[in-house]
Amino acid sequence: MKNKNKNCIIFGGGGFIGSNLAEELVEKGYKVTVFDKLYFNRFNLKSFINNIDIIEGDFFNKQDIKKALRNKDIVIHLVSSTVPENSNQNPIYDIETNLISSINLFNECIANNISKIIFISSGGTVYGIPKKIPIKEDYYGHPLCSYGIVKKTIEDYLFMFNRLYGLDFYIFRLSNPFGIRQNPKVSQGVIPVFLYKTIKKEKIEVWGDGTVVRDFIYIKDAVNCIVKSLNVNTSEKIFNLGSGKGYSLNEILKVIHDVTNIKPNVIYLPARSIDVPINILDSSLARKTFKWEPKTSLKEGINNLYKYFLKNIKFYD
Ligand SMILES: NC(=O)c1ccc[n+]([C@@H]2O[C@H](COP(=O)([O-])OP(=O)(O)OC[C@H]3O[C@@H](n4cnc5c(N)ncnc54)[C@H](O)[C@@H]3O)[C@@H](O)[C@H]2O)c1
Repeated sequence: MKNKNKNCIIFGGGGFIGSNLAEELVEKGYKVTVFDKLYFNRFNLKSFINNIDIIEGDFFNKQDIKKALRNKDIVIHLVSSTVPENSNQNPIYDIETNLISSINLFNECIANNISKIIFISSGGTVYGIPKKIPIKEDYYGHPLCSYGIVKKTIEDYLFMFNRLYGLDFYIFRLSNPFGIRQNPKVSQGVIPVFLYKTIKKEKIEVWGDGTVVRDFIYIKDAVNCIVKSLNVNTSEKIFNLGSGKGYSLNEILKVIHDVTNIKPNVIYLPARSIDVPINILDSSLARKTFKWEPKTSLKEGINNLYKYFLKNIKFYD
């Protein structure tokens, strides 16, 4: 089947990753349906809203999922009720919402003959504290937060559904995506928060001494890889998705200073136990399999987000 005939549904498609993915899919000729909460804000979708279908519903409601999957070929699962920071406050809630509803989604995918499901997992949390850098997909670590445990368990259920019922899937263990449409008030991610607070001349709180290292990938590079994967068939199922380069929080602050010409006003707080000291992903499997390379440098990406914030700052104020 040609791309333009494939129907993709993105659960959580109104958010940061989902809206960038929706745009890339539309550009590549897919039919795209965005599924997001009742009355969700369409701001992220405005530049291509006439080229997509929208379904409002609750991902945690079985009937809403059942209805949404009719006549779809590809499912992209981007909904999460937690982020790493808050998931340990109530692991039972994390399991009851994210794990149960994901299994429900997989059941409905079988019932609706979905040809492939893409699950965005977390390269930053599923490995826990790595023994070797960069981290390869086969490293088995112990997550430090419920969010990572639940993501890893959802991955395992995908393997089970594949074996039992033939549900095809890819898992992307995404590192730290950043870029346009990332909300500095609600999303995960230090770059939008640091950048927004720098623009607003607000105090920036850094947990620890700023030497924590992360693998940051520009969102357009990340979604480009995911969309490319839809045209490749391989028995590999789990792919790290990162830039393969590590930057400390202090280095990020320096780039933000260079790009904005404003000195970030930083205060250092005690380190948090859920933060692993270093995380850099080895994404060579994704590079090789999907003939893909991340193209955007950290500085270029931060500059894109800076310009985006200057243009859209009212939305986030
Ligand atoms: N942003 C990151 O740094 C990062 C890194 C790795 C993995 N992920 C994962 O990628 C996914 C998307 O992340 P994001 O940064 O785009 O988040 P986001 O908050 O920007 O987007 C998530 C979207 O899901 C929607 N949603 C939440 N609950 C819903 C429900 N019950 N029914 C319908 N829609 C609902 C929200 O309204 C939102 O539009 C999440 O699963 C997240 O865990 C994110």
